[in-house]
Amino acid sequence: MDAAAAASERWWKAAVVYQIYPRSFMDSDGDGVGDLRGVTARLDHLQALGIDVIWLCPHFDSPGADNGYDIRDYRKVLAAFGTMADFDAMLTAMTARGMRLIIDLVVNHTSDEHAWFRQSRRAKADPRRDFYIWRDGKDGGAPNNWPAIFGGSAWTLDDASGQYYLHLFTPQQPDLNWDNRQVRQEVYDLMRFWLDKGVSGFRMDVIAFISKPPGLPDLAPDQLAHPERAYACGPRLHAFLQEMNREVLRLYDGMTVGEAFGVSPEQSQQLTDERRGELDMAFDFALVDLEPSQWTLPQFKAIIGRQDRLAGVHGWNAAFLGNHDQPRAVSHFGDDDPAWRMASAKTLATVLLTLRGTPFIYQGEEIAMANAPFDSIEDFDDVWAKTLWREQVQSGRQSAEAVLERLRRTGRDNARTPMQWSATPNGGFSTGKPWLRVNPDYAHVNVEAQARDEGSVLAHYRRLIALRRAEPALVYGAFEDIDPSHPDLFVYTRRLPNKAFLIAANFSRRAQTYVPPPGATPTTVALSSAASAPSAAPPICLEGWRSVIFEIRA
Ligand code: NOJ
Repeated sequence: MDAAAAASERWWKAAVVYQIYPRSFMDSDGDGVGDLRGVTARLDHLQALGIDVIWLCPHFDSPGADNGYDIRDYRKVLAAFGTMADFDAMLTAMTARGMRLIIDLVVNHTSDEHAWFRQSRRAKADPRRDFYIWRDGKDGGAPNNWPAIFGGSAWTLDDASGQYYLHLFTPQQPDLNWDNRQVRQEVYDLMRFWLDKGVSGFRMDVIAFISKPPGLPDLAPDQLAHPERAYACGPRLHAFLQEMNREVLRLYDGMTVGEAFGVSPEQSQQLTDERRGELDMAFDFALVDLEPSQWTLPQFKAIIGRQDRLAGVHGWNAAFLGNHDQPRAVSHFGDDDPAWRMASAKTLATVLLTLRGTPFIYQGEEIAMANAPFDSIEDFDDVWAKTLWREQVQSGRQSAEAVLERLRRTGRDNARTPMQWSATPNGGFSTGKPWLRVNPDYAHVNVEAQARDEGSVLAHYRRLIALRRAEPALVYGAFEDIDPSHPDLFVYTRRLPNKAFLIAANFSRRAQTYVPPPGATPTTVALSSAASAPSAAPPICLEGWRSVIFEIRA
């Protein structure tokens, strides 16, 4: 591919995406909860970073059983986040800055307070009954043995009718019945509503769960450890997505990225093969599923290599190291010890911004926000954490300390502590009492301090994004891992016929030297994660957790 061919590619391949969790981004009115005016007020930060697309987590009216992933009204803004006028003003401000907005499409389930569900549960004969999945019980219990993803049964008995409804997440998130054509039409309608307003696409929540296994059979004992694998990719998934494309998506120049929870890499490839007309990209969970502090660099590299191979020429990857459901990237994949935190966050950024795939930066990653020091279960808000606590600790199955230790490492609230803007109280996030405690390290880890410091993680992100924007080879160039088994170094090339780069990243505290193979000899340093760039002449010498992008002969 040459520069001209690159220019004719779909716009989202060259984009850099930034994910906003609105509850934790910026509170404009002092109620302790982030809001849309807060997002608008902070767009300068994203513009200075070089962001093209913002993915906004759910902003819809919701009772908040799962922080907005339980939607009561798809056409209304959550009151705590503002009004539709605030949404419109935010979108106008983004557009004025040349940024696009994608929103969360949460249509595997609704809230149990959605009008459809209220009607559905009213009577067996209600025309909306079939919008959800109702079944009679079996042997005095639930219709089958399916567990909900956050724990407990996936079925709740509705006393009025004596039937159970299915909810793969909390009981307040009943699953929609996608086999019902009217349900699908309602979903397409709400998608058109937001696209017509000017949003540029969707991140699709647990999209692979929408087609259920026929007959809803019991899970075999060996399936119970990973029920999401059994729930994903039912027989009509591809047909539903192709229909959604025909009826909605292809009429707009938008982008889609599906959450491929429970989906194998091969299935994910099918979902994103451009010849099939389904999704543009999918979030493959293989990397983030690596157990914190147990993973190895060869495993990490093998996953990236496989993703790249599977994407091939007809697919495109979504690159991400964290999101609102994961621990912080620097704690998970970097080294959050104070001595290494900033260096490792920069190196993770170097990798994220030089992979072949659209990079997704999660809010706070650009300043190396790390996992939070949670003291007790009271510090957590997340419904998953609370369910785990109830099921494991209160029932006596595990000790409080064991569950707390797990939550500190993997808990979703790590990613949800408020954004750290400055060293002022609450990190400048709110003048009120934040809904979730701000990580106390905000005093020295914040946007304001890093914006003034050319050597900061934030400054490195800005330079990386600018470089990626200037160099089509870093977007479209072929990816080759030139030393997959090296335990500490990730060294790979990105090549177009007219330009090529070698990226060398040290994932350890130890200094490393490396002699690249003959075809990959550096000519110049394009960007270094540390002020003192190593020489381009081999061998490459990298201090602990440092990374460099070299130009090499194409
Ligand atoms: C995935 C979302 O990212 C997560 O936050 C949510 O709890 C579940 N889907 C259910 O909607």
